[in-house]
Amino acid sequence: MQENDFSVEFFESISAAPLAAAIHGRCFMPGWSESDFVSTLSIPGTVLEVLSLANAPVAIALYRQVTDEAEILTLGTLPAHRRNGIAGQLLENGFNYLRHNNATCLFLEVGTDNIPALRLYRSNGFVETGRRPNYYNHGTGYEDALMMKRLL
Ligand SMILES: CC(C)(COP(=O)(O)OP(=O)(O)OC[C@H]1O[C@@H](n2cnc3c(N)ncnc32)[C@H](O)[C@@H]1OP(=O)(O)O)[C@@H](O)C(=O)NCCC(=O)NCCS
Repeated sequence: MQENDFSVEFFESISAAPLAAAIHGRCFMPGWSESDFVSTLSIPGTVLEVLSLANAPVAIALYRQVTDEAEILTLGTLPAHRRNGIAGQLLENGFNYLRHNNATCLFLEVGTDNIPALRLYRSNGFVETGRRPNYYNHGTGYEDALMMKRLL
């Protein structure tokens, strides 16, 4: 994907909650509600990144930074736009934003069965730092979480 094919914006206020919930609900089952995003965005240090193609939002990432450490809280690309390099661009722009905000490392947790996300994170410089057994409860079973870290 070329730089001029897309635009990226960052929102630190709860005004972005309806947009975030609309995208998240099409990426995850179930997605987070608008009030979930209002609560999350109300916490200082939280920022929502939105990537748009031709002004239409297609992917989001939510970060939280405390001192020089940041965390990815959630990230998703709309199903119709996957495998097109969008999440890679989302991460690259997110890294730059966080660096400018004096973050030096970025953490995340990802399910061990989530192959697309694991490949995305590994190919974007994240390394595994640990595992949380049975971290996700899917109702029908449990899934471990891998903890990952990337220096910025
Ligand atoms: C994971 C997710 C964000 C990837 O978004 P995307 O825009 O398709 O990612 P990209 O096109 O930038 O892919 C980057 C790399 O990730 C890997 N990848 C992405 N989707 C993949 C898939 N379905 N299978 C295998 N690898 C995949 C590949 O290495 C890919 O590079 P390649 O296309 O050159 O092989 C997307 O599948 C998604 O939204 N999933 C549902 C929500 C989710 O699980 N989010 C992560 C929570 S931790």
